[in-house]
Amino acid sequence: MVIAMANRVIETNLIEEDIKIEGSLRPQTLNDYIGQSKIKDNLRIYIEAAKRRNDALDHVLFYGPPGLGKTSLAGIIANEMGVHMKVTSGPAIEKPGEMAAILNNLQEGDILFVDEIHRLNRQVEEVLYPAMEDYAIDIMIGKGASARSIRLDLPHFTLVGATTRAGLLSAPLRDRFGVVHHLEFYSIEELKLIILHSAQILNVAIEDKGALELARRSRGTPRLANRILKRVRDFAQVKYDGVITEKVAATALDLLEVDKMGLDHIDRNILFTMIEKFKGGPVGLDTLAAAIGEDAGTLEDVYEPYLLKSGLLNRTPRGRIVTDTAYHHLGLEIPS
Ligand SMILES: Nc1ncnc2c1ncn2[C@@H]1O[C@H](COP(=O)(O)OP(=O)(O)O)[C@@H](O)[C@H]1O
Ligand SMILES: [Mg+2]
Repeated sequence: MVIAMANRVIETNLIEEDIKIEGSLRPQTLNDYIGQSKIKDNLRIYIEAAKRRNDALDHVLFYGPPGLGKTSLAGIIANEMGVHMKVTSGPAIEKPGEMAAILNNLQEGDILFVDEIHRLNRQVEEVLYPAMEDYAIDIMIGKGASARSIRLDLPHFTLVGATTRAGLLSAPLRDRFGVVHHLEFYSIEELKLIILHSAQILNVAIEDKGALELARRSRGTPRLANRILKRVRDFAQVKYDGVITEKVAATALDLLEVDKMGLDHIDRNILFTMIEKFKGGPVGLDTLAAAIGEDAGTLEDVYEPYLLKSGLLNRTPRGRIVTDTAYHHLGLEIPS
């Protein structure tokens, strides 16, 4: 399963081939950032207000499925505020002292970006509470009976947190974010714009209809749109004259086993399993996860959101069910 995941074209997590291209494709300003207009409108106001007050921005939390632009937004905030950004992640910080050191090294107004913030352990998280609330950390000095805690002031900084699993965030941490934004899947039109823009940067010849076909199959996810563009470009160069037309796009994606709705074999396997083993549901998340040999958290955060969003799957109090749309998409008859 792990190997299959790594080779998945539509694996939404960052994979090695993305790292090379993402740097050049990552939007740098709010104006370059396509879609998510509610978030952009809000951020514009917060950023403007913070600049006028000459103060740090409120702490911001972004949550939503991988590849939708959380990290990009953190960088954009830093750019728009004209401050430095220090990047770390939940699993990278093991000890409270490490977090204290990072905080202590920040400059006035700086941004601390903590990716996968739901994975911070409890003690490390507790360092963040006074830091976020009062811009201070408490440090213990001495040992045993003479030990005492002293408070150290920090510069006014902004914590930007990102998570795919907002449900796993502890309430005290969540409550300390002044601004919380959920990232939505992108529309086909928005993805098309992202693809055309990336094609320009990567110097790829693409027709409008080719871009539309790639957009339809990108699972609402900019990271996938860019990855698919790159794969299809290679295909167009080797097999055709280098131009991505609608036909080249469709042929290449069929070969990559990404179907018309952007589903790959794992997505289809989820739906087929539900239909064949569980009569279309309802089936509980854990039972389904076991049946497809996948971890329940990954199923819930990586695969399910897009299936839900596309109306192929529904959540009911008794479990997940496949919809008529799913039967139709898979070319199966709807059971009476
Ligand atoms: N709104 C957007 N407009 C243009 N490109 C985007 C947008 N959001 C994401 N991308 C592209 O997708 C890639 C992945 O985005 P990223 O911010 O790393 O996602 P996340 O942190 O949510 O996993 C970026 O490198 C960028 O190229
Ligand atoms: Mg990210």
